[in-house]
Amino acid sequence: MTTRNQMGSTAVLTCTVTLDPAFGIAPVDPRLFGSFVEHMGRCVYGGVFEPGHAEADTDGLRADVLKLVRELGITVARYPGGNFVSGYRWEDGVGPVADRPRRLDLAWRSVETNAFGLNEFMTWTQRAAVEPMMAVNLGTRGIQEACDLLEYANHPGGTYWSDLRRRHGVADPYGIELWCLGNEMDGPWQVGHKSADAYGALAAETAKAMRQVDPSVKLVACGSSNDRMPTFGAWEATVLDHTFDHVDYISLHAYFEKHGDDRASFLASGLAMDRFIDGVVATADHVAAKKRSRKKLQLSFDEWNIWYESRFAGYTNLEWAEAPRLIEDEYTVEDAVVVGSLLMSLLRHADRVGVACLAQLVNIIAPIRAESDRPAWRQTIFHPFALTARHARGTVLRAEPRTSTYDTARHGDVPVADVVATHDPETGQVTVLALNRSESEPVNLTAQLRALPGLRVVEHVVLGGDSAELLHTNNAEDPDRVQPRTSTDHTLTDGELTAALPPVSWTMLRLAPTA
Ligand code: AHR
Repeated sequence: MTTRNQMGSTAVLTCTVTLDPAFGIAPVDPRLFGSFVEHMGRCVYGGVFEPGHAEADTDGLRADVLKLVRELGITVARYPGGNFVSGYRWEDGVGPVADRPRRLDLAWRSVETNAFGLNEFMTWTQRAAVEPMMAVNLGTRGIQEACDLLEYANHPGGTYWSDLRRRHGVADPYGIELWCLGNEMDGPWQVGHKSADAYGALAAETAKAMRQVDPSVKLVACGSSNDRMPTFGAWEATVLDHTFDHVDYISLHAYFEKHGDDRASFLASGLAMDRFIDGVVATADHVAAKKRSRKKLQLSFDEWNIWYESRFAGYTNLEWAEAPRLIEDEYTVEDAVVVGSLLMSLLRHADRVGVACLAQLVNIIAPIRAESDRPAWRQTIFHPFALTARHARGTVLRAEPRTSTYDTARHGDVPVADVVATHDPETGQVTVLALNRSESEPVNLTAQLRALPGLRVVEHVVLGGDSAELLHTNNAEDPDRVQPRTSTDHTLTDGELTAALPPVSWTMLRLAPTA
């Protein structure tokens, strides 16, 4: 990695930033800290739900997983898919368990027992204290089935589907607000894949009908599965031509990975996320302009994470099985640093990204891992997520860090450091998140806080920073090997905060009023 400062000469790496509560981007929407529970592999079965496990409660929900979910601090859980939803009959998952059919799940070539369905999921969300985000099947199904599901979930009673829910033991409607209109419908791998026109027309009509069942719903139209899709941009424009006035969000999905040993590019994944978001915002605003609309459509980044997708042989090679072991990626320290940086990208776009879901929650590319013979444990990526979800509160401040740049194979010239900060006007607390992408040099961070007088540093934690440990992981044998460590390498004098950001690290500094 070659680093140079903005004048082009080699120097000590620095990053300077000014933080002022007069310049804010937007309030942090708690829905930015969502996650995703799909009927895939061992996320549901053997993950959140495992009757017979030593830690399972009387409903078969794993208490050890629930405890970690609460510690992780997720606010939203998207369900039941993912690719799975595009062939799913939601009615299979309600009513007496003994009567539920076993089905082929074409998305993941798995056998779905349907022992876990909507009501089990809703019980789980209540125990986890998270908001449900449901997806309806617009692959093999359509408007009617989406409305039936909404009526079952949200209508008080006195109709076929709402009374069926009541007969299933749920007297009160759930009042589920967030609904995804299908999943990744641009992807040829999707069961019931559609053209942008066909999907847009169906999504618009489904949205209109669902709003008639329950006007309080918030609806998400499918954007592109990722920004490498050949139809990216055109897909969003066409879908939004149909749906713009009928939906609240357009979705984005992105998975990042380190290609070969190209760590320099991997550490810059946050820039790729920034560009993706900016592209979708531009497309949404283009459609708004064409429609003479003042609506600022929100984005739902409802799948994001690191996924070593190039190591996955693909679903067509799978044998039919119940809850097979699929993509249980074991995350390293450098993966955790990148997850921290992706959260910074989401926060930086808090004015447009209203929902975000770390995909997924348990076992499948997940912050939490679970096995049948032991308590669940935290993967490395658990830590930056939990710290950000707990402490990035209030308003995201407009930060314009000045720093050096370095070259990358995939992203060109990239800033060596990044900074995002939040300020909570109620508590006066400031949280500074910082990233050092340099593989060899510390970055001296200087933050001017003169507009935020009377603060002291109450917490300074770092992930990464030791080249010998970047590939360390947490696993069944050593579940707590990787944890954030406390640092004292900072000063705060006369409104100037300085901190040393070690090479390849993610840092959180928390400041609180002195009195
Ligand atoms: O999260 C795994 C899969 O990735 C989801 O099912 C799908 O929506 C995406 O392609």
